[in-house]
Amino acid sequence: MAGPASLARLLDAVMAVGSNLDLAVTLRRIVEAATGLVDARYGALGVIDPATGALGEFITVGVDAETRAKIGDPPKGHGILGLLIADPRPIRLPDLREHPESYGFPPNHPTMRAFLGVPITVRGAVFGNLYLTDKQSGEVFTDVDEELTVALAGAAGAAIDNARMHAQLRDVSLLEDRERIAMDLHDTVIQQLFATGLSLQSTLPLVRVPEVAARIERAIDDLDTTVRQIRSTIFAIGPNARAPMAATRERVLAIAGEASRALGREPRVEFDGPVDAVVSEAQAEQLLAALREALTNVARHAHANSVLVEVLATDDGIVLRVTDDGIGPAAAATASGGRGLRDLAVRAERLGGTFELRAGRGGGAVAEWRVPNQ
Ligand SMILES: Nc1ncnc2c1ncn2[C@@H]1O[C@H](COP(=O)(O)OP(=O)(O)O)[C@@H](O)[C@H]1O
Ligand SMILES: [Mg+2]
Repeated sequence: MAGPASLARLLDAVMAVGSNLDLAVTLRRIVEAATGLVDARYGALGVIDPATGALGEFITVGVDAETRAKIGDPPKGHGILGLLIADPRPIRLPDLREHPESYGFPPNHPTMRAFLGVPITVRGAVFGNLYLTDKQSGEVFTDVDEELTVALAGAAGAAIDNARMHAQLRDVSLLEDRERIAMDLHDTVIQQLFATGLSLQSTLPLVRVPEVAARIERAIDDLDTTVRQIRSTIFAIGPNARAPMAATRERVLAIAGEASRALGREPRVEFDGPVDAVVSEAQAEQLLAALREALTNVARHAHANSVLVEVLATDDGIVLRVTDDGIGPAAAATASGGRGLRDLAVRAERLGGTFELRAGRGGGAVAEWRVPNQ
């Protein structure tokens, strides 16, 4: 089990990846955080060179400079390190020397046994791999280590994407480019942060140490805040930054699909009326944010078995309704603790609409967002 201090390092590192951190700093922080997270003695982040498919940059933790110099060239990604390149899925081995693909260490390389490798994906493409070896305790890596590292890798992907795009933002002077990148930040980074929040949410039941659980809850709150900040930056850039992206229905389905794991099952999604034709981009942006908030809230607060998402385009306007069969708003422990609903209600009012949470008729909760037609 990861100790609270090491998890704190992870979360702080993820959250510290602000708007002007450069990529090199981000990568180092990621590998340091991952190593601390699972109490590994050694950690490395291998960046895959898209041109060759081999490892390019190789950032390590736990091997001092002198030893590194003695080992010589960094690995290219053969043997065990190559397994993740060929098949980007997490791998856990009690002793990597016993794997058939292993062909041993080069001279002067420290001996390593327990192994946990997790890919880092940025925009659907594998960016590189996290390699962690030898728990300080001498034990093998656990299910929880793997879950947490996968969650970290998700946040790392968003952080890398963010760092890259901020670098691009600094480099471009054309307004259109700024807007295009802002849009990108909006749809891709927010979606990724949303997914990371949900995946942290689904690790909570695995965590038995209360301090660690509290830490994770705080991280989820921090992710919420980050998403809100990104949204207000995009909002400030102007209306063109919110030019139409994919069709609204498609985006609704993507968000619902993303939430399935944290919810325990796929939400049912129903559309009625000409949704894609009548929902403007400004409305879509709010509607999708309201949907993310509502689904996150169901995962966090409702203890529901099933969730229904309805999107209706009516003569009066557009309605998003998220109905769950959980404990209901009155029974939730942290009544009106957060800002999610409140912020979105304020935004909905600017479009002449409302966003509210109420008790469902037969129990559970109904989150309803409505705006008039434009
Ligand atoms: N689907 C739901 N079922 C039960 N309670 C809910 C639901 N959605 C929201 N709540 C309650 O409403 C509160 C406010 O939600 P929100 O403004 O999103 O804040 P946060 O999610 O940060 O706590 C939550 O803390 C919770 O108590
Ligand atoms: Mg919330």
